[in-house]
Amino acid sequence: MTTVSRVPDLRTDIGDVLITEEQIRAKVRELGAQVSRDYEGRSVTLVSVLKGSLPFMADLMRAIEIPVQIDLMEVSSYGGATTESSGLVRILKDLSSTIAGKDVLIVEDIIDTGLTLNYLLRYLRGKGPNSLRICALLDKPARRLVEIPIDYTGFVIPDEFVVGYGLDFGEFYRNLPFIGVLRRELYEPR
Ligand code: IMP
Ligand code: MG
Repeated sequence: MTTVSRVPDLRTDIGDVLITEEQIRAKVRELGAQVSRDYEGRSVTLVSVLKGSLPFMADLMRAIEIPVQIDLMEVSSYGGATTESSGLVRILKDLSSTIAGKDVLIVEDIIDTGLTLNYLLRYLRGKGPNSLRICALLDKPARRLVEIPIDYTGFVIPDEFVVGYGLDFGEFYRNLPFIGVLRRELYEPR
């Protein structure tokens, strides 16, 4: 397991900016409009997965023009500052309200191997929602291990480890307003 033993440099640790702040803003607006149309006449319950989805959730909910309720879960699939999925999913924070009979939209930052979402889907399905869909800001299909039906996708990205707009490495970089590629030498042994 890799650990971050230095204080990150938010400017120089990023190789390329993959998605700019403006691109994110436009995409979130588009997704919000799409959700508003699809759920018209109903309300939607957004279930976000902390901590990486926090900025996306905050922006997406304000781009939706129909009644919204929100709930938050926290799961962990990665141990510490690693970039590989362990396949182990632990619920650190559960839903605070029932979702039985509700139209639930899971709001995720990124779908990588799909193991986290695969687990969450089964877990949430078991709670009897009226419908259950997935909205993911980023889709990294190259490393998918289980098929995940993504209903709303922001951006499909290449097989790079990205940080920013909620996404972290060793709990840092979440506050970057854009999505950038973390320099490989920061997590790959030389
Ligand atoms: P999965 O179970 O492999 O699909 O992983 C999902 C979780 O892994 C995400 O919610 C992120 O927390 C984390 N993750 C996957 N890829 C990246 C990445 O490129 N940067 C930062 N976190 C990532
Ligand atoms: Mg996450």
